[in-house]
Amino acid sequence: MDQHLHTAQQPLRLGTPQEDVFAGPSVESDMIESSLHSIQKFVPTDYASYTQEHYHFAGKKIIIQESIENYGTVVWPGATALCQYLEDHTEELNLEDAKILEIGAGPGLVSIVSSLLGAQVTATDLPDVLGNLQYNISKNTLECTAHLPEVKELVWGEDLDQKFPKSSFYYDYVLASDVVYHHYFLDKLLATMVYLSQPGTVVLWANKFRFSTDYEFLDKFKQAFDTTLLAEHSESSVKLFKGILKWD
Ligand SMILES: C[S@@+](CC[C@H](N)C(=O)[O-])C[C@H]1O[C@@H](n2cnc3c(N)ncnc32)[C@H](O)[C@@H]1O
Repeated sequence: MDQHLHTAQQPLRLGTPQEDVFAGPSVESDMIESSLHSIQKFVPTDYASYTQEHYHFAGKKIIIQESIENYGTVVWPGATALCQYLEDHTEELNLEDAKILEIGAGPGLVSIVSSLLGAQVTATDLPDVLGNLQYNISKNTLECTAHLPEVKELVWGEDLDQKFPKSSFYYDYVLASDVVYHHYFLDKLLATMVYLSQPGTVVLWANKFRFSTDYEFLDKFKQAFDTTLLAEHSESSVKLFKGILKWD
């Protein structure tokens, strides 16, 4: 995992490695076209190799299907830190029946743990990873949670008022783990966190801090949210923040 993380400076790519190997220049534009098209709808990706990783939270063994072919199919260190925090503070956070939306849920560990702890969860991400996300969520929550978690597409900053109108969607918590790294969508990410925050909403954001851009994002986060550092793991450089939107 750490080996994988050290390569994390590349921005999000559009194709799978197999496509990259076989695609010539003329095929490339088709690839980009179809990837952009896939943002519109759910397209499960068929990865060449999967592994299964085991985690223990909320008194359960959780098995996550991972693939190193996409950032969104690997559990990142912010996710385990956030799960640990949720497990240790379940009552204080009043998680039972709480409405939770996770952005950039990836393989789904945080959403699964939130659901096992009693919350009503919506796990969201880009279309390409929704298949694996749904698989992991179903495998780990079916018949053992009070509320069946939902999986939905949420592309940061895109069509939020149509897909998540404020009048019908309210969340007690917006969760995010390791959504800040070297990519082109940091402003849209912050705008999404702001959009999803209504009075009473708490953003819990856990992230491994590696690059100066991570700290620049933190500065902007602090401008928009009243921010509290809830936990810091010096061995992994993960910090966990609570943010409540500033309303003035
Ligand atoms: C580094 S992974 C973290 C996955 C998971 N939260 C974890 O900590 O294990 C970042 C996640 O953000 C998602 N993501 C990246 N850009 C996005 C965008 N523009 N809109 C929505 N999700 C995005 C990726 O698909 C991926 O699942």
